[in-house]
Amino acid sequence: MAIKNVLIYGGGLMGKNIGFNCTALKDVCVTIFDINPVDVHAGIKESTKQLVEKGIVGEEELAERLSRISFTQDLDSEGVKNADMVIEAIFENLDAKREVFGKLEEKCRPDCIFTTNTSVISPTEISSELKYRERFCGTHFWNPAHLIPLVEIVRTDASSDEVINAVYEFLTAIGKKACICNKDVPGFIGNRLQYALYREAIYIIENGIADAQTVDIAIKNSFGLRLPQLAPMENMDLIGNDLVWNISDYILQHLADNHEPSALLTKMRDENKLGFKTGEGWMKWDDESIKKCREDLNTYLIKMLYDK
Ligand SMILES: NC(=O)c1ccc[n+]([C@@H]2O[C@H](COP(=O)([O-])OP(=O)(O)OC[C@H]3O[C@@H](n4cnc5c(N)ncnc54)[C@H](O)[C@@H]3O)[C@@H](O)[C@H]2O)c1
Repeated sequence: MAIKNVLIYGGGLMGKNIGFNCTALKDVCVTIFDINPVDVHAGIKESTKQLVEKGIVGEEELAERLSRISFTQDLDSEGVKNADMVIEAIFENLDAKREVFGKLEEKCRPDCIFTTNTSVISPTEISSELKYRERFCGTHFWNPAHLIPLVEIVRTDASSDEVINAVYEFLTAIGKKACICNKDVPGFIGNRLQYALYREAIYIIENGIADAQTVDIAIKNSFGLRLPQLAPMENMDLIGNDLVWNISDYILQHLADNHEPSALLTKMRDENKLGFKTGEGWMKWDDESIKKCREDLNTYLIKMLYDK
């Protein structure tokens, strides 16, 4: 299953950067489809600015890679007909995603692989009404998709091994760190872990144990600092699973276990304390600190990934 022509369906924040990723392989051409006109080249130039400034992607290389990325609003275009793989990245809505794949079944070849970048919706549900369900799986890229290596490949109840393997090989070949999530469960792997931490962080604030800044300081200066080098499963072996058992036996009964968003989070939402969007969330934000936060993240990721 050679993947040479990739159709990205939805050219927003994720779609453009995923499209750029795919051009890491020299013989791959990318078509980005969107219902709205999108200047995908300008968007990719903006998000890869730091990679170019630091010499990780040369200007010529960027121009060459962009020459293999085209934009269309036409479902009857060659990029749709010839696609070997579709990566859908429209907004997060089950019915809309189902409708997209319903339409694509009419337009793409029957052997074209279909994948969705959904963050939380079940790929099994998205694909449940399709004719050829075995060709479908989730490919969950993380934002910023041109930098974060992980892509979770989510197996539906019908995905074929052939398709999972082809997607795995393709993602690995374009330089991503692909991993397979064997069961289509809410949150897949990464977001289950991330939200277990968010739940506890909010519990700590809600119960007056520490404020939001302190929670972040505690994380950034302790296990957060060593996580990329010593992740939980390695760390458990390092300290010993007998000790992990003893600590679990003592602490688990005290940890947050709410099955719905906490009262504090609900209050914040209702008071419009949404974070960057409204200038106040757990912390206060203005244009300058928002810009700095985003730039610092990219700078940090580039340093970690490329040592530059
Ligand atoms: N933003 C993130 O951090 C992030 C991370 C991982 C996964 N995701 C997932 O990726 C997907 C896309 O997210 P995003 O942040 O890029 O969204 P976005 O709003 O930036 O982009 C969505 C794009 O899809 C287009 N679109 C909407 N409906 C369409 C349709 N019916 N046909 C074609 N194009 C359509 C819009 O015009 C827009 O350009 C979502 O499923 C989201 O949950 C997002």
